[in-house]
Amino acid sequence: MLGTGFIADFYVSALHGGRNCDRVVMAYSTTPERATAFAKKHGIPNWTNDLNEAVNHPDVEVVCIGLRNDQHAEAAIAAAEAGKALMCTKPLARNAEEAWTMVQAVEKAGVFAGYLEDLVYTPKTLSSMKSVREGAIGRVLWAKSRETHPGPHSPWFWDVKKAGGGALVDLGCHCIEIGRSFIGKEVRPVEVMCWADTQVKPIDAEDHAIGLVRYANGAIGQFEVAWSFRGGMDLRDEVMGTDGTIWLNHFLRTGFEMFTAPGNKGYVAEKAESSSGWLFPVGDEVNALGYNHMFTDMLDSIEQGRQPMETFYDGYVVNAIMDAAYRSAKSKKWEPIELKEWRGLSDEEVQAKKEVEYDEKHWLLKEEVMPDGSRKLLLKEKATGALIQVEESV
Ligand SMILES: NC(=O)c1ccc[n+]([C@@H]2O[C@H](COP(=O)([O-])OP(=O)(O)OC[C@H]3O[C@@H](n4cnc5c(N)ncnc54)[C@H](O)[C@@H]3O)[C@@H](O)[C@H]2O)c1
Repeated sequence: MLGTGFIADFYVSALHGGRNCDRVVMAYSTTPERATAFAKKHGIPNWTNDLNEAVNHPDVEVVCIGLRNDQHAEAAIAAAEAGKALMCTKPLARNAEEAWTMVQAVEKAGVFAGYLEDLVYTPKTLSSMKSVREGAIGRVLWAKSRETHPGPHSPWFWDVKKAGGGALVDLGCHCIEIGRSFIGKEVRPVEVMCWADTQVKPIDAEDHAIGLVRYANGAIGQFEVAWSFRGGMDLRDEVMGTDGTIWLNHFLRTGFEMFTAPGNKGYVAEKAESSSGWLFPVGDEVNALGYNHMFTDMLDSIEQGRQPMETFYDGYVVNAIMDAAYRSAKSKKWEPIELKEWRGLSDEEVQAKKEVEYDEKHWLLKEEVMPDGSRKLLLKEKATGALIQVEESV
């Protein structure tokens, strides 16, 4: 485990509590005291403050990167050169150029490389994505994902050089990949329109951003991110399809609501802002945030010699979308997404059939039951283009 901070703690809990056969055998931190304390806490037998010693240790089969954003590339390249399978937390890198060096390093070394985007692995997301793939809501037209909270827990996140950006790069990476996953990762993201600003915090990066990602099949992904939101961590997704809708709330309303007058002592949930009055705890955060399912997919994939659901290439695409979003926030225009290589379907292959046929002569626009019980059909004549109304009385 490279890193001994907030995410490394979640990751080790998930790894040790997941498949019952995985153990973290090495802890790495640049600060020796932190490495020792972390190793003791989790029963990890080895620790070091030397990156090369960590990745080359003979007991290490898989390297997991839970370091600051600016340390991902160096760590990934070192692990790839050591010939180890690797998994890297989000965002893959600070920008697409840096992410591409990581993709190239793992592909040159021929090692497994999984992108740890936990929020596409939450039980609710996995289940709704399965429904979408089975056609339950028809063709996806719009997928909105929102992640907002009062701001991250360590100083480096607020330093644009170390983090690569602000709320957009930190939280937008989740929302963008959730949107891609619902719309279809085989569909090329084409361009981005984004607003981003620093409304509250004394930082150089943005603390609030909203954006639209247009896909080659006409679908739209929308992301909403903020470090200036008050009230805890708001994680919500909405998906609109031609035949249905999905609404997901992952954190502030999970079906567990509690009122406490004296107050709940200690931790309530990630980024919770209150510990008394009405509280919205999360039953099992490691599971609700997708960490268990994510590591099961990663480690099963390594054993079975297959690609995981989330790869380094996915992380690179997300970085490329965020780069375009930053350009758009500056130019105030739609900005193209620049990908060195597109590995999905061609734009021609994903073009959707838009019309719904009513009969040989008509397209169906709308069908509705009126307050008096009559049924109304709005049709378009294929030959003339005329719009007509057919009413069936009660
Ligand atoms: N949902 C998620 O997937 C998720 C959530 C949080 C963070 N992350 C990602 O994980 C990576 C690390 O973020 P984090 O939240 O763990 O940050 P963190 O600040 O808690 O830890 C980051 C690094 O700093 C080190 N560190 C932490 N406190 C330190 C201290 N007092 N002195 C010296 N070193 C210290 C840690 O060992 C770690 O290597 C980032 O890339 C972040 O984007 C992912």
